[in-house]
Parts: sequence; structure tokens; C-alpha cells
Amino acid sequence: MRIACIGGGPAGLFFAMLMKKADPGHEITVYERNRLEDTFGFGVVFSDATEEALAHGDRAVGEAMAAACHRWDDIEIHYQGQVITSTGHGFSGLSRRTLLEILAARCRELNVRLCLEREITDPETLRDHDLVVASDGANSPVRERYRDRFQPTVDVRPNRFVWLGTTHPFPAFTFHFKHDRHGLWRVHAYQYAPERSTFIVEAPEATWRAAGLEHADEASTLAFCERLFEGELHGHRLLSNRSIWRSFPTIRNARWHHENVVLIGDAAHTAHFSVGSGTKLAMEDAIALGGALTRENTVAAALAAYEAQRRPPVESLQRAAQASLQWFEDTERYMDLDPIQFSFTLLTRSLRVTHENLRLRDPKFVAKVDRWFAGEAAKQVLEPGAHSAPARPHEAGIPSHPDAPPPPIFTPFRLRDLVLWNRVVVSPMCQYSAEGGFPNDWHMVHLGARAIGGAGLIFVEMTDVSEEARISPWCTGLYRPEHVPAWRRIVDFVHRESRAAIAIQLGHAGRKAATQRMWEGDNEPLESGGWPVVAASPIPYFPHSQVPREMTAADMEQVVRDYVRATRYAIEAGFDMLEIHAAHGYLLAGFMSPLTNQRRDEYGGSLENRMRFPLAVIDAVRAAWPSEKPMSVRISAVDWYPGGHGPAEAVEVARRLHAHGIDIVDVSAGQTVADQQPVYGRLFQTPFADRIRHEVGIATMAVGNISSYADVNTILAAGRADLCLLARAHLWDPYWTRHAAYELGFRLPWPGQYATLDRYRPRFI
Ligand SMILES: Cc1cc2nc3c(=O)[nH]c(=O)nc-3n(C[C@H](O)[C@H](O)[C@H](O)COP(=O)(O)OP(=O)(O)OC[C@H]3O[C@@H](n4cnc5c(N)ncnc54)[C@H](O)[C@@H]3O)c2cc1C
Ligand SMILES: Cc1cc2nc3c(=O)[nH]c(=O)nc-3n(C[C@H](O)[C@H](O)[C@H](O)COP(=O)(O)O)c2cc1C
Repeated sequence: MRIACIGGGPAGLFFAMLMKKADPGHEITVYERNRLEDTFGFGVVFSDATEEALAHGDRAVGEAMAAACHRWDDIEIHYQGQVITSTGHGFSGLSRRTLLEILAARCRELNVRLCLEREITDPETLRDHDLVVASDGANSPVRERYRDRFQPTVDVRPNRFVWLGTTHPFPAFTFHFKHDRHGLWRVHAYQYAPERSTFIVEAPEATWRAAGLEHADEASTLAFCERLFEGELHGHRLLSNRSIWRSFPTIRNARWHHENVVLIGDAAHTAHFSVGSGTKLAMEDAIALGGALTRENTVAAALAAYEAQRRPPVESLQRAAQASLQWFEDTERYMDLDPIQFSFTLLTRSLRVTHENLRLRDPKFVAKVDRWFAGEAAKQVLEPGAHSAPARPHEAGIPSHPDAPPPPIFTPFRLRDLVLWNRVVVSPMCQYSAEGGFPNDWHMVHLGARAIGGAGLIFVEMTDVSEEARISPWCTGLYRPEHVPAWRRIVDFVHRESRAAIAIQLGHAGRKAATQRMWEGDNEPLESGGWPVVAASPIPYFPHSQVPREMTAADMEQVVRDYVRATRYAIEAGFDMLEIHAAHGYLLAGFMSPLTNQRRDEYGGSLENRMRFPLAVIDAVRAAWPSEKPMSVRISAVDWYPGGHGPAEAVEVARRLHAHGIDIVDVSAGQTVADQQPVYGRLFQTPFADRIRHEVGIATMAVGNISSYADVNTILAAGRADLCLLARAHLWDPYWTRHAAYELGFRLPWPGQYATLDRYRPRFI
């Protein structure tokens, strides 16, 4: 094969040498516009795992990299005058110039043609090759040349950063968070060679501008940073190398190949430097592309296979990088945290490193986190609140080791007079199994099993406040006095047989009423037996859905009355907590979102107006619900649709809920409009709960793709939420909490009937 690589960075050089090694018959040329020693930047970071994977690609490169690396295990966090150290991280730094030298030497050894100081201005001139590899970096001219084919998007982030070096040999991967009169500066520093460290300085745009760095050249940047970080540099100087202030661009492409042209490395995708993975991704691309070309019979098949193989891990890492870069954009939000929690949230910022990962790396650090968290939880439970003593103080479980603090998941949490015995919550889940609004044996078994399963709080499904408020004819309700004993039977069972508390979720389906069972046609209108539906505005959910009638003031008054009646019934039924469902595009959510509320009266327009009716419902319910019992509201933090609610609006919504006596916000997202564009992924809604919790100062519940106890412990210990809701995980496993306890070595007492299990060891294979 004749192959042209445009760009002699890590991606281009590594790919060229791997291909040539696989078949010396290939004719491979790397075109690089600079000399190799002209490279930008200082050191790059690799984890031990990445180094191993790269060595698997080529042993000689792996060995040379290992010999030139500076290794460290510790991460040091300098925060509010304290240094918090966490160990066991297994990383190393390597000079970028050394890396390129290693790769170039290996290319030369294998007879790859290196054309240095040769800029390719038009890739078309190389299209007669069998393959043109665009390894030309983040500003890829090749990608731009075929822009319409690759369809790149570039998300330019607001923070400013500069990549500097220093002669100070930082002993660990070091983070500094330093205030000056302009704002908060972040430093990411690590050693990559004797007497050499990378020193990246990052700040929000406003801080950077206030410091007058807008027009700073390299010399004035150095002077400013040396002054600011004099203490941190211990008398050492900073070094520059094309060190200009930049904004990080997250690059994505709809396609990575077009005919015989393929994107690899930064040309195809970037990942924020705070996850230290750009070079790793570039080199992994090189291995994958080389492998696909060796395996497949045609270039077309190989490029398709390469993209199919690489896209999922790259996109997953980009999601992690997005969470990480946002943490650094929002660091001001966390500056009041206790140093131990601040460190924990920093270390787990990508939402990929968990409490469990850290426990394996540094058990002492995690024990400290757990001890601190358990202490805070104990204080919170005993705190003198508005009401004297907890009405239902549940005893906690028993750690296997008397000295070990309980993991965060098994700490109690108090809401008004309700004390939950752990932080696991069964998320509300419609069962579409009721008749006439009555919960029946299905609901008893479904909810009862999950209560015995060990969760601290069980939500019953969205339960409707009137017959016409139901999503479907099979939804549960609380609109007839006869519904009360049916619910009371379940509530009593949960209270008698378990330590769980039980909450009702009250709802009105609005324009999503009169639809089919979820598994028969999610949100699809009933084919027969439907009823007229009402909403904020007459906008159907699907084009073929019923057009709702715009609610009048009289309709609103009636709905408020329905909510209050349901609240009184919920008290009679004995529920411990009450949640108003104001998410997922149902009636109240429909008022809140500008996408579904286009009213011109005092209930439409501004957020103030759009929340008027939902708040009227909330006020009326709060007044009817006993003051010692807590109330939550479920919201869709974002609509996942242009023009709809985003995270900033969610904060404003939560602020109002807090002011109206809501104790905790249940932070869900989406389902407002049928053509939403959600960004799913692990813990994808948790960042919204985190933001609300810190910016509003209200407790939050996180929900959405939380499935492991490691994730729950991480969310709680990092302070991203106070409770974690799991829905599908609880359908899969009603005993999820017990299984989590077992895995964590934390003993939850079984009910007497199952006491024999104390001596039983489960085995599945
Ligand atoms: C501040 C900062 C810190 C970083 N820290 C890390 C880290 O710790 N760990 C890590 O793994 N990654 C890190 N990265 C990312 C890393 O630098 C890149 O992801 C990596 O270099 C990508 O490799 P590449 O080969 O795709 O592109 P590049 O390394 O950018 O190489 C592209 C090459 O193409 C050449 N070129 C461009 N156009 C042409 C043309 N028309 N003709 C000829 N040649 C051309 C360029 O001169 C360049 O040499 C960091 C990046 C930044 C900005
Ligand atoms: C079968 C099913 C029924 C659901 N019904 C409700 C409901 O009644 N009320 C509600 O607020 N959310 C409902 N949801 C959403 C869940 O409570 C939860 O927010 C969502 O499934 C994401 O959590 P998970 O990733 O843990 O499943 C339902 C989800 C499922 C899977």
C-alpha cells in the first residue's frame, strides 16, 4: 500500500511505524510541516494501563517510553492552605519532544519516509495514494478541506489556559487552587523529566480578562504567572514554548472517513487536557487503524471497521472529559467544601473514577472520606430542625468491622422529621397495572419486595389526582376515598415489615394523558376509550396526539383542589413523604417549559409566570401536608431541546421550589417534547443535581443511569446529591440494596423470616 500521513504528531508517527512493521512492503510517508524538535508543549501524561496498551502495540516504543518516563503515584491537592494527598494513581509523565523522538527513531529504523518541514496545503495532491491519513492535529487542514463530509463540530470552552513548563520538579501530580484579587486560578502540574514539569494555568474568562491577560504575550504571561505562583514554584522559573492563552476546543466529527481519507487523533476528536488522554487516544487510534487495515481486505472496509471500533470508547472518554472540564469551569462552586470532600469531588470529577476505584488505590484516603461523611450525616440527623425529634428514627446497619465507618450509601439522612436509614431510593415507576385507580396485589408485591430489599425510601409510581389526570386507564390514583385503604394496606406493610419509608408521587398527565401502556405504545394516544386532555397550551405531544384544551383559570382551580384532596388522602394512607411530579412533560412540567407553554396570560411568558400555576399547586399541597413531613418535587432539569430549559433555568426553578417549602429536589431530565435530543450516558443527569445542590443550597436526589453502589457512594461522598434514585436497577433486582451491602461488607439485618441468610453465602456460578 502507498500511504501518506499528513502530520507527524504522536498519531501520524505511531501509525506509520506500526503499519510499516506489519508489512515492510508498504510505502509510507509522513509529512510534517515543522521540525520534530519544534514541538509545542512540555510533558504528556500516561496511566500505567495506557503505557501497557501502547507497549502491546510496539514493545520497542513501550520500553523506550518507560525508560524516559517520570513516574509518580500521588496526587497532591493544595486547597485553602492545606495539602491533601491521595496515592496509588500509577501515572507517568513524558516529554512530548522525547515521545516524538522515540517514535521518529522507530519510523526511521523501519524505513518510514519522514518528510519534515513540508506543509501539505492541499490533501487532494496526495489522493492518488491508497490511503491518506489526516493526523494533522486539532486544527486539521484536511478535516477542513472535506468539511462537508466529516461534518466537524467544535465546542470552544469558556475557560482560558496556558501550557507552561517549569524547572521545579513537582513530586506528585499537583493541583493548586489559588485566589487573587481577580478570581480563582487553577494549576495542573506534573513532572515529566528531571528538573522539568508541565505547569498548566487555567482560569475563567472573566478572571483572565480582569488580570489584563487579554493581550498578554509570552513574556508578560510568564511574568504574571511567576509573580502569582512564586510560593508554589519554590524559587523556580517558568518556561514558555509557544505558550499563548487559549480556549479548549472539544472537536467531534459526524464521520471519520471519506473515500480514502481518514481522520485520526486530535483531527478526529479532542478530550480536555484535565483527563490527560489526547495523546493516548491518538496512539490508540493508530493501533486500531493499523489493525483494521491488516485484517480487512479493502481500505473501505478497514476504515469502516476502524471507526466502528474506536467511536464508542472515544465518545465515552469525551463524555468523561466533558464532565471533567466542566468541573474546572465550575470550581468556584466547590470552594466552600471541606478539604476532604473537595479532594474527593476533584478526583471523581469525570464521573468515571469511583469511590470503589479510589478505595482500591488508596484505602486510607477513602476511609478518611467515609469517616468525614458519616460524621456529617450523624450531625445532620441530630441537628435541631424545625421539629423536635425524628418521628421514625430507624436504626442503622452494622459495619462488618466495628472501626470501619459506614460507606456513604449506608449513612442516614434526615428530611424534616423523617430519618431514612440509608441513601438508596426506589425511583417512581408506573406499573400500568391498576384498575379504576386502585393499587392491587401487583403493587403490594412490587413495592413490598423492594422495601424488604433494603432501600431507605420507596417511591410509589406517579399516582394521579383525578380520573382524567391519569396517563393511562391502568394508572394508580388517589381521587376516591376508596383508594385510601388500598394504599394504606401497602404503606402499613412497608412500615411493619421493613425499615423503608414510603413516598407518594402525585401527578397529572396533562397533554400526555389518555395514552397507552408504556410497553404497548409509549405516549401513544389510546385507540379507544380516551378522554379529553388539558394542558398549558393546545400543543399535541406527537402530531397525531390529541390536541389538548388550553386550561382556564377555573380548570387550574379545580386541579389545585384535586391535588389538595389527594394530599389529604395521602395523609390518611400514612405516606411518609410526598412528591409533586413536575417533570417529563406532564401537566405542571408543561407549564414550566417554554416549549410547551405558549400562553399570553400571567401563566405564560417569563419563568416567574410559567411557574405561577405549579407553585400554586405546591403551596396548596404544602399547606395541606403535615409540616413535620417532607415534600419533594421532581423536575426535568433540561428539556434536551433548543429553546427549552437548560441547567441554568433548572437552578432558577429549584430556587423557587426551595423558597416555597420544598425540602429536596428530585432532578430528572427531558421527556418534555417528543423530538428531544438527549445526551445519555452513565450518571448523565447527576451534574444537574450537583449544580442545583451547590448553587441553591437545597438537598437533591440524583437519578438516571445510576446502577452501581460504587456510583452511589461516589455521588454522595462528592456531595453531588443527598439521595440516589435507582429505577431499572430495582426492576432487575429488588434486593439491590442488600446486594450492595453484601459486596461492601456491610451487614443489613434480614427480617426474621429470612434470618437463616445471615449464614448463607450466595453463589451464582
Ligand atoms: C495544554 C495541553 C495539555 C495536554 N496534555 C496532555 C496530556 O497530559 N496527555 C495527553 O495524552 N495529551 C495531552 N494533550 C493533548 C495532546 O497534545 C494531543 O491530543 C496529541 O498531541 C494529539 O496527537 P495528534 O498526533 O493527533 O496531533 P498533534 O500532536 O497536534 O500533531 C499534529 C501534527 O500535524 C502537523 N501538521 C498540521 N497541519 C499540517 C500540514 N498541513 N502539513 C504537515 N503537517 C501538518 C502539526 O505540525 C503537528 O505536528 C494536551 C494538549 C494540550 C493543549
Ligand atoms: C417502567 C418505568 C416506569 C417509570 N415511571 C415513572 C413514574 O411513574 N414517575 C416518574 O417520575 N418517573 C418514572 N420513570 C422514570 C424513573 O423514575 C427514572 O427517572 C428513570 O428510569 C431513570 O432512572 P434509571 O436509569 O435508574 O432507570 C419510570 C421509569 C421506568 C423504567
